[in-house]
Amino acid sequence: MLKISSMRLSKLASAVLVTSAALSAVSAGAGEVEVLHYWTSGGEAKSAAELKKIMQAKGHVWKDFAVAGGGGDNAATLLKSRVVSGNPPSAGQIKGPAIQEWAAEGVLANLDATAKAEKWDSLLPKVVADVMKYKGSYVAVPVNVHRVNWVWANPEVLRKAGVVGMPKTYDEFFAAADKIKKVGLIAVAHGGQNWQDFTTFESVALGVGGVKFYHEALVALDPKAIGSDTMVKTLETFRKIKGYTDAAAPGRDWNLATAMVMKGEAGFQFMGDWAKGEFMAAGKVPGKDFLCAAAPGTSNAFTFNVDSFAMFKLKSPDAQKAQGDLAAAIMGPEFQEVFNLNKGSIPVRLNMKLDKFDDCAKLSSKDFVDTAKSGGLQPSVAHGMAISPAAEGAIKDVVSQFWNDNKITVADAQKRLLSAASTK
Ligand code: GAL
Repeated sequence: MLKISSMRLSKLASAVLVTSAALSAVSAGAGEVEVLHYWTSGGEAKSAAELKKIMQAKGHVWKDFAVAGGGGDNAATLLKSRVVSGNPPSAGQIKGPAIQEWAAEGVLANLDATAKAEKWDSLLPKVVADVMKYKGSYVAVPVNVHRVNWVWANPEVLRKAGVVGMPKTYDEFFAAADKIKKVGLIAVAHGGQNWQDFTTFESVALGVGGVKFYHEALVALDPKAIGSDTMVKTLETFRKIKGYTDAAAPGRDWNLATAMVMKGEAGFQFMGDWAKGEFMAAGKVPGKDFLCAAAPGTSNAFTFNVDSFAMFKLKSPDAQKAQGDLAAAIMGPEFQEVFNLNKGSIPVRLNMKLDKFDDCAKLSSKDFVDTAKSGGLQPSVAHGMAISPAAEGAIKDVVSQFWNDNKITVADAQKRLLSAASTK
């Protein structure tokens, strides 16, 4: 991700590639909402379609600006080019500390009128509301709460391999992975892209080192924690997992890795619960066709990833009205339920009934509440929730280089992490 504040948008203009798609896009007209997002996999697209339906039912024109690429790096680049060329969409999928960077550029709309009318302050956990606000005013609206520290499994593969139950520790995990390898299947389905590498890495750090270590090393970027023996153990465990992935993993999209678990080609996948959206979109039943569990050693913790839309300043009053309606719809109970049922996440709006949700979602919801009390609720670094986009990009690069190149020693990786962590 590019850091916005270090390069003012005017300078950025020359640095970004303005694609033909961006150039040909017309500005949003009256009653039209143009929404930039990166939900293009089966489960994601189904979820996004629900928002479109709700907006169309309100009489607005939905202009889809979908940019393929899990984790949203491609979408972020395109969004920058649109804003730089003075033609922002109505809303863009932006989250975490990046919201503050965009707001500091003065390009985001103030959503306080909608937030007040819809009582967002009383409907959102404070930790989420704070991320959506810039200098006390809402500039973004949250969609959901994804949990990142999950491992998914195919029960039929486990049965064939003689694995009983989901692994609760890394000893159990590697024992299970060995058994899966023995029956000729892939133990871990992995997509080698840096956000996916880091999704696995942060779950390993949490499982190996616990909540305090996770927070100190990856959220507070404390040099002592990064240089500790616990980080050595984390890196060793992470590297060991790679030995259970297949040779075709580099570059693979996350949903294709999920499909490997779905089809019984692979046993496990480390991935956030958008993977569940993928299983569900394919008609799979949780507990029967696929299993979910907290990643080894992390059942007392919850790495959260809150998707949100920031709204851009628009000139036309009709477009502003449509934008307000979009913000209100996103926080509305109807959308919160149907979207999250499809997406694999849980509603971010408090006090929603979860009757229609499956057991993985119910576990997520219970753990969200419990970990908020215990301190186990932690922002996901891999998904842009914790640190500045610049530092995040730098440490992601180190982790992926280490994953991809066995010649990089653990001690080397640790040194590189230390220097990446100080990226401003
Ligand atoms: C995450 C995002 C999710 C999901 C995933 C894969 O960063 O928060 O909504 O879509 O990427 O694209």
